[in-house]
Amino acid sequence: MSQLTIKGGRRLEGEAGIQGAKNSVLPILAATLLTAEQVELRGCPRLRDVDASIRILEGLGCTARWEGENTLEVDTRSPGGCAVSEALMREMRSSAIFLGAILARCGQAELSYPGGCELGPRPIDLHLSGLRDLGAEIDDAGGVLHCKASHLRGREIVLGFPSVGATENLMLAACGADGVTTILGAAREPEIADLQNFLNACGARVSGAGTSAVSIEGGRPLHGCTYTIMPDRIAAATYLCAAASAGGDIFLRRAREEHLSTVTAALREAGCTIRSDAAGVSCACRERLKAVRPVRTAPYPGFPTDAQAILMAALLRCRGAAVFEENMFASRYRHVDELVRMGADIRVSGRAAVVSGVERLHGAPVRCTDLRGGAALCVAALAAEGETEISQTAHICRGYEDIARDLRALGADAAWAES
Ligand code: EPZ
Repeated sequence: MSQLTIKGGRRLEGEAGIQGAKNSVLPILAATLLTAEQVELRGCPRLRDVDASIRILEGLGCTARWEGENTLEVDTRSPGGCAVSEALMREMRSSAIFLGAILARCGQAELSYPGGCELGPRPIDLHLSGLRDLGAEIDDAGGVLHCKASHLRGREIVLGFPSVGATENLMLAACGADGVTTILGAAREPEIADLQNFLNACGARVSGAGTSAVSIEGGRPLHGCTYTIMPDRIAAATYLCAAASAGGDIFLRRAREEHLSTVTAALREAGCTIRSDAAGVSCACRERLKAVRPVRTAPYPGFPTDAQAILMAALLRCRGAAVFEENMFASRYRHVDELVRMGADIRVSGRAAVVSGVERLHGAPVRCTDLRGGAALCVAALAAEGETEISQTAHICRGYEDIARDLRALGADAAWAES
């Protein structure tokens, strides 16, 4: 397993390109099942979760082939199966996103129940109740989901919570349903709009993404397409927070500030100068950061839960104290103990975490507890004196193509080493 070594204490100066969005490409890979023609995905990030999704497609009798660094050719002309193995469901919790597309394509599906993950329980009750509303028969006894959908019918569905995955699953299933489906209470994340744009590029008629009411005109035959994945807003947030943490002046090509405005608002409040245009987003930070108003995670357009650990890491040496409230997942402070090993002063009580700024951080051997918690360790290590060795980096590789490469492009001293 690779270990990541970061030598802190250097200001960041440089420019990096932002990879394609993990949380957009995963539902889009599931969506390729809705057409029997080839799909070419450009700007497709090379991630462990993308590899897992490719294995799921291959397990369904499809093929996927890399053409160049970030172009993936997907061929779903002759899917042979409708089951996703337990091993793959355990490898990637978000595999549940394949359920709607498999049902729409094959009329049946068999997936083992995705268990919890590092962030706590990951229920899919909203996914299942919505699919049942569309006419799917789902037997979820015994840890395996046996699903049949001989005839999906479009209708109005109300989501009690704006679940990203449930919204995406229902959009995909609705493409295979007769008539119009309207999802009320839909998630509004930018990745939902990217999925809508992909589906419409294949000939679907989806509208409303970005609002809480998404409409899908089902039953339309979908063709192949060439599509470019949107830039990853959480990767962009990570590198903006890296510059805030270490100080410096960076530019992120392809980043789109409108997708992470709550994060840039917090960084501006902390004292960073953020500028953005069509080409990307820059961040300059010369002074010690100031504390910011309480950060409460919420569904989009609220503060993204995926950026909570990352912003926390940037604020470890702020003047004053910063309060975080994690409202999306039950166990999303597992990175705190590792940050405390580096000298941070963080107190957790239930959903709240209070970060009291310290004068100095010091490098230490730390381990990733989850994807964004691992990224947070990198952000903190840039501001720490000395060397930080980060292990269990497989978590980071689920969502970042090569975080060491990107940090080096921004002027950091970061390198992989086989441990
Ligand atoms: C997506 O997860 C993202 N993953 C997560 O990113 C992100 O944190 C999350 O949305 C929130 O923005 C992908 O897109 C692959 P949810 P998802 O359904 O779809 C509860 C990362 O680091 N819930 O919006 O699983 C659930 O338990 C990952 O990139 C139900 O109760 O998120 C959670 O508390 C982590 N029942 C909350 O809703 C359901 O049926 C938000 O979940 C579904 C969800």
